[in-house]
Amino acid sequence: MSQPAIAVRNLVKEFDLTHSGYSSLKGNLLWWRKKRKERLRAVDDVSFEVRPGECVGVVGKNGAGKSTLLGLLARVYKPTSGEIHLSGTVAPLLELGAGFHPDLTGIENVYFNGVILGLTRKQVTERLEKIIEFSEIGDYVDAPVRSYSSGMLLRLGFSVAVHVDASILLVDEALAVGDIEFQKKCLARIAEFQANGGAILFVSHDMDAVRRAADRVLWMRAGKVYQDGPTEEVLSAYERSGENPPQD
Ligand SMILES: Nc1ncnc2c1ncn2[C@@H]1O[C@H](COP(=O)(O)OP(=O)(O)O)[C@@H](O)[C@H]1O
Ligand SMILES: [Mg+2]
Repeated sequence: MSQPAIAVRNLVKEFDLTHSGYSSLKGNLLWWRKKRKERLRAVDDVSFEVRPGECVGVVGKNGAGKSTLLGLLARVYKPTSGEIHLSGTVAPLLELGAGFHPDLTGIENVYFNGVILGLTRKQVTERLEKIIEFSEIGDYVDAPVRSYSSGMLLRLGFSVAVHVDASILLVDEALAVGDIEFQKKCLARIAEFQANGGAILFVSHDMDAVRRAADRVLWMRAGKVYQDGPTEEVLSAYERSGENPPQD
């Protein structure tokens, strides 16, 4: 058996929530009396592995902890406890436009992110044409990213993520804002990434996309992995549960 691309053991992430006991003005002035800290376990003792070449879907209703889990793997968050082992570079596609600087042009952002994701400037230059071509954003590459639509942000972000030499791809809901044609292209690219030994964690509310892309599915509930198994088995149970938000 090859070494896992992602190994997560007993991972916990807690957020501090600060409540003030009063909502009145007087109450707020007495905040120091009533302020108490609560901790929310967004990820609660999660363990799993992803092998090279495997695409694992992550489903669960809103607030289940999916984005927090991906944020931990992308090192956006520091775990409260537990272990994360990653073999290779991670290309995260998390919040839309995350990692893009709004005042820089598309091209400048490609350089910026390409270098952050481990390429040299020369390598970015060599791949620039392919990255721009895949993203289909045309002349907008010279415009500040601030002026991009959500679809354009997604296309450029996805294109950069799949053109760096990452071995782990994290996709959080991102594809939902793309049009159907681009989604198909992304799924094809994900399959290619997998065929080259890449590992993917794919969060989506789109059951068709998960069915097509994932070999295995983690169903998260209240911060825990409630089920981890073959795609069809987990998705049919998940759909029967009615936890998936309706698609528009
Ligand atoms: N930065 C944060 N600070 C405090 N609470 C957060 C933060 N991020 C997420 N949470 C909370 O953690 C829980 C899990 O959220 P999230 O990981 O975004 O779930 P999902 O992506 O499955 O919808 C939710 O209750 C959410 O409100
Ligand atoms: Mg989320």
